[in-house]
Amino acid sequence: MTHTVAYIVGSASDDSLNRRLANALALAAPDSLEFVEAPIVDLPFYKPEYDADYPEVGRRLKRIVEDADAVLFVTPEYDRSIPAVLKNALEWLSRPSGQKSLMGKPVMVAGASGGLTGAAVAVVQLRGLLAGFNVHLMAQPDMFIRIRKDQFGPGGRATTEGTQEHFGNVMQLFADYVERFAE
Ligand code: FNR
Repeated sequence: MTHTVAYIVGSASDDSLNRRLANALALAAPDSLEFVEAPIVDLPFYKPEYDADYPEVGRRLKRIVEDADAVLFVTPEYDRSIPAVLKNALEWLSRPSGQKSLMGKPVMVAGASGGLTGAAVAVVQLRGLLAGFNVHLMAQPDMFIRIRKDQFGPGGRATTEGTQEHFGNVMQLFADYVERFAE
């Protein structure tokens, strides 16, 4: 059975390393997973007044996430945390009160940077934030990697076969995890 994965790239960069990682993960995933991006870059800063009547850009994000069977976050680390654009998106997804768009979803978190620790701090912080969203967070494997943009080919795959194979193994585990929560 096919399951839809909404993926959220936590970067506003036009040439995001983490978008490349998201593409490579999608290409490595088994055919049972279909990927659709839930875009966050054009969201205004969340404010509670929006709860009365969300603008279309917020509705679209919520619709894509709510319609999906699972969610994949792929985030950079900015200043030893998640980027502000992603924190803002989480605020949009956390409202209205009691109706979090992420509720009950199987979720995987991944992150990349060129730095020595490969977005580890951001990934761990995001896992902590998601504890408040009542999601089913895949505990393992930890997916934070040190990688450069030139390590992804024009087609989107990692240029090192071993890396792309590793992505395939991780995404198979995510597919198995998503299947467990399917009705
Ligand atoms: C960074 N970068 C970075 N890297 C890291 O490993 N730890 C960090 O704390 C930071 N901090 C940081 C702050 C800011 C404002 C920028 C712009 C960058 C480097 C960062 O990981 C690298 O630029 C990645 O390419 C960012 O991923 P995206 O945005 O290209 O997906």
